[in-house]
Amino acid sequence: MQITIVGAGNMARGIATRALVGGHTVTVTTRDPGKAVRLVDELRVQATGAGRIAAADASAVDTADIVVLAVPFDAAKELATAYGVRLSGKVLIDISNPVDAPLDALVVAPGTSAAEEIAEAVAPGTHVVKAFNTTFATTLVAGQVSGAPLDVFIAGDDEAARATVGPAPSRSSPPERPAATPFTHLLARNPHGPAVNRHRSPTRRTTPCTCAPP
Ligand SMILES: NC(=O)c1ccc[n+]([C@@H]2O[C@H](COP(=O)([O-])OP(=O)(O)OC[C@H]3O[C@@H](n4cnc5c(N)ncnc54)[C@H](OP(=O)(O)O)[C@@H]3O)[C@@H](O)[C@H]2O)c1
Repeated sequence: MQITIVGAGNMARGIATRALVGGHTVTVTTRDPGKAVRLVDELRVQATGAGRIAAADASAVDTADIVVLAVPFDAAKELATAYGVRLSGKVLIDISNPVDAPLDALVVAPGTSAAEEIAEAVAPGTHVVKAFNTTFATTLVAGQVSGAPLDVFIAGDDEAARATVGPAPSRSSPPERPAATPFTHLLARNPHGPAVNRHRSPTRRTTPCTCAPP
């Protein structure tokens, strides 16, 4: 799987680390090309796994299967709009927590969410998936918490797109790690089971703190 990460900060490091462990091809692009190069150089030394990683310009978005917006929410929304049809047919992962600078208020209106706003901004055929926003960057690098496998909550309107990012185990069976999904080293537990309430946008379910761990 070709995964392009936009941004070269803490979450880019964590998500790239996990994708490399999963054996995927990762490309990092950001507004300061030097920062992408430095992150890639760091991960080539420190990350494990069979994946490959390179820094690139924004054209890396065009060749990706999955694009991860590892930037603040406002930037994510702007980029999602600016990329336009270049994202059509791709999975776009929104990882943002839409909070203000003091981290004491949401910057999205009540009743909506970052992923819903981004989903409204993208070109038709772009499959927005919410993931990683409840996971600290440092724990993504570690891949575990206190020795326990990491849980990542994943939500999206398109079931195939969601499954591309991670498995959706049922309540009655333990989480599985299908070989075809990019983050196979992660356990993705969905406390609501695989069924999505199709009368509500599942992106809304990812609003921080509404998804209690099982
Ligand atoms: N850190 C966490 O543990 C954590 C956990 C869950 C979710 N998140 C979410 O993950 C996202 C990234 O967080 P982070 O901790 O990785 O932040 P970070 O370390 O500050 O990295 C942010 C990246 O976004 C780029 N960026 C910032 N503003 C931009 C803009 N207007 N246009 C284009 N690129 C821009 C930065 O580029 P420059 O270096 O050039 O400024 C940098 O590469 C945020 O939405 C955050 O809410 C973070």
